[in-house]
Amino acid sequence: MINEENAGKGAVNAVPVAKSPFTHASTSAQAAAAIGAIPPVLTEFNCPLCNKLYYSIGDLTKHYEECHPGSVVPRIVVLHINGKDCEVLVEPHWTLKRTLQFRLGLTGAKHMCDRGVCGSCTVIIDGRPVLSCTTLTVECEGKSITTVEGIAADPKWKPLIDAYCRWDAMQCGYCTPGFVVSAKALLDRNPHPTEEEIKEALSGNICICGTYPRHAQAIMEAALKMSAEG
Ligand code: FES
Ligand code: FES
Ligand SMILES: [Zn+2]
Repeated sequence: MINEENAGKGAVNAVPVAKSPFTHASTSAQAAAAIGAIPPVLTEFNCPLCNKLYYSIGDLTKHYEECHPGSVVPRIVVLHINGKDCEVLVEPHWTLKRTLQFRLGLTGAKHMCDRGVCGSCTVIIDGRPVLSCTTLTVECEGKSITTVEGIAADPKWKPLIDAYCRWDAMQCGYCTPGFVVSAKALLDRNPHPTEEEIKEALSGNICICGTYPRHAQAIMEAALKMSAEG
């Protein structure tokens, strides 16, 4: 049983705790900067096919008619991400993962299998964990999207980030954002999950480095801290 005294000290399943180089302060500052850098309105319209730059969607559309007849013109989609509205210019087949990474500079949702099996690209859409590599950007208009950057930048989730750092629940760290997003979605709907419920909630997330036992410890510690803080 995890409690205030043994939390993070290896008492549960005697997992040794290494010292993580990460802290909530460094990750939240980085995440807030990435979110802050997203412009709410588009002012530049690059042609995705030849990279020519235009300053209105009308001019880009005209360019398509002249230079890329028959190709589908990109469209502007307004996304509500991490509490903020922003316009993005996307082609209709673009996945949300691609848009996050290449249009918005939000690189937390990771590119791994790109076919919906590893969970590294998980984001939360309208309260549910969703794989951004199998979700079209155009489907996301009007929905509320939370990425790992939004979680890291929100002080409410400091205990979760702290617990991941304290338990060193990562090795290469590539899968970690996906786990953190799944954990947040779980704690939102179940603030006091059991170890079994945590394992179930994280069952779609794969870690090649084999950090599985530490996620449950970190999440149980975070749950305890968050309930103590009210
Ligand atoms: S990259 Fe999306 S599930 Fe693997
Ligand atoms: S920590 Fe390396 S893949 Fe999970
Ligand atoms: Zn072009």
